[in-house]
Amino acid sequence: MTEVGGFPALRLRRLRRTPALRRLSAQVRVDPSNLVLPMFVKEGIDAPLPIASMPGVVQHTRESLRKAAVEAVQAGVGGLILFGIPAQKDARGSASDAPDGIVQLALQDLAAEVGEQTVLMADLCLDEYTDHGHCGLLTDSGDVDNDATLERYASIAVAQARAGAHMVGPSGMMDGQVLAIRAALDGAGYPDVAIIAYSAKFASAFYGPFRDAAECAPQFGDRAAYQQDVARSVDEAVREALLDVAEGADIVMVKPAVGYLDVVRRVRDAVDVPVAAYNVSGEYSMLEAAAANGWIDRDRAIAEMITSIKRAGADIVLTYWATELATTLRRV
Ligand code: PBG
Repeated sequence: MTEVGGFPALRLRRLRRTPALRRLSAQVRVDPSNLVLPMFVKEGIDAPLPIASMPGVVQHTRESLRKAAVEAVQAGVGGLILFGIPAQKDARGSASDAPDGIVQLALQDLAAEVGEQTVLMADLCLDEYTDHGHCGLLTDSGDVDNDATLERYASIAVAQARAGAHMVGPSGMMDGQVLAIRAALDGAGYPDVAIIAYSAKFASAFYGPFRDAAECAPQFGDRAAYQQDVARSVDEAVREALLDVAEGADIVMVKPAVGYLDVVRRVRDAVDVPVAAYNVSGEYSMLEAAAANGWIDRDRAIAEMITSIKRAGADIVLTYWATELATTLRRV
């Protein structure tokens, strides 16, 4: 192994030889400040409820949410995103924009507790609040009505901003949602509240455990008529992201993350705003289940997964492991 075609063979292994060399030459690092912790808060419970399909994740009470938020912030996690589970659901998701709706109350709690030290985000969608479980209002024939839904989203955005959200995260994949929300926030006197848009969100089986956590599985049909199709080319995802930036998105998101790293990379190269990737519930649970069976080295697999998402181009990663990673960050 001395010569190839008259030239000395290159030794790419030189920088891999020792931990010190690998540490020095690392080009991708996971930094807690770019991690966002998704959190669930449920109305009307007295103690946190474990989520069977997401071991280690709970539905919080307002009180346990406050404690977990403080813990995350103290560990160095950069942001929190809240999902609410209301006690009452109806066809128009009335609890989503009610001033005393669970997410609004929780936002007020967290704004008072950690609002100066972190970025408070709220998922902005209807599926947790509608009795039919779809992300928008339904027409008589049972389709999701795009433009009627935009009016609901506008109202939710204002309610979340009023309650103390620094950023709202529209996740329903309605056309024009970012434009409608930006206009509503500006019109209501919240020009500084930012939008982290779920721009390239695919109709994915990997949201399964989340639907237990947020109690939002569709009661009929699925979300394939509004979320993106996995079999379309990445070009469509790039188009979604560019449209959202044009409509006023401050950050664009790709979701899920692990199966969609090509999308993360292409979106990163196409836009001039930060790109977030959502390491979703199914990605979390699949790894936790394998680890619980002793089939995989849990800590190394988590670190590898998040590092890979960053290497693909994500500036920000939403992950259920945010607090743990921030506390025990381990290099791969
Ligand atoms: C919709 C929403 C979903 C997730 C985040 N926001 C579920 C869906 O679209 O069905 C999934 C998150 C996860 O799987 O971790 N409000």
